[in-house]
Amino acid sequence: MITSAIVPVAGHGTRLLPATKSQPKEMLPVARKPIVQYVIEELVANGIANILLVTGRNKTSIENHFDSDPYLIQTLNTANKQDLLKELEFEDLGAHLYYTRQSEQRGLGDAVLCGESYAGEQPFVVALGDSIIGLHAESRCVAGMMELFEARRASCVIAVEEVAPEQTRHYGIIEGVDGDATWCRVRNLVEKPEPAEAPSNLAIAGRYIFSPTIFDMIRDVAPDARGEIQLTDAIQRMCDEGRRVLAYKLPPGERRYDIGNFPSYFETFVEFALADPDYGPGLREAIRRMLENS
Ligand code: G1P
Repeated sequence: MITSAIVPVAGHGTRLLPATKSQPKEMLPVARKPIVQYVIEELVANGIANILLVTGRNKTSIENHFDSDPYLIQTLNTANKQDLLKELEFEDLGAHLYYTRQSEQRGLGDAVLCGESYAGEQPFVVALGDSIIGLHAESRCVAGMMELFEARRASCVIAVEEVAPEQTRHYGIIEGVDGDATWCRVRNLVEKPEPAEAPSNLAIAGRYIFSPTIFDMIRDVAPDARGEIQLTDAIQRMCDEGRRVLAYKLPPGERRYDIGNFPSYFETFVEFALADPDYGPGLREAIRRMLENS
């Protein structure tokens, strides 16, 4: 059974400047919650009990967010704000959170390598801190990936979703063979190819399961032109060695919300806010008015 996860949250978020100048992109709100809270809640709902967050400089607000704040609780209690106290219930996650720091920006592969001694000899999940799976993070994607990992004795399972051809340059793209409508075997992966070079339109969707062999593969990868060690290159090594690398296709009805760039961050915010049980209907009306008047 897989019960631990590594969540890299160390990146600078330069694509979201100036919003991310002094705050982590993972702490930007999507409707009522910061992005990283959705990611952690999704993992817990999928049976993950231990989560290592790989942080970096300027990321202490993430730790503060998940730490309980006795002073705030006391203030709300004194003011008899029971409704607001309820909003802090997420602090009692039912999972253990651990933190480590990636001190240099050496890429996603290097961030995952920071979790080597934490993972030990067990397979583990990697969930990117800037992608939410499912509306309001209600998703069984990770549980489905675990079932595939175990049933087919895989070394690695990657969640993938179809993207429009012009989007391939933003993601890792896989070349798949065999399988069926729900999964396939991965033969090759290319990081952010131009549409003409993309082997498919199946993009890596920010959720992975690895056996601990991935750490040796990461150590073998040379840094790219920007000095970053790409996780995608380490997975390619697994494929080259003939290990079983599988892609789990996001089922219909499951979607990945990528918060790493403004267009998709804006869309995600609006979609989540529209689905808010209290404020969604009013917002829908307001947007309708704005569109009529524009
Ligand atoms: C990373 C991965 C890429 C993946 C993407 C998903 O890229 O390298 O393969 O498709 O996350 O969001 P990044 O967005 O960190 O540049």
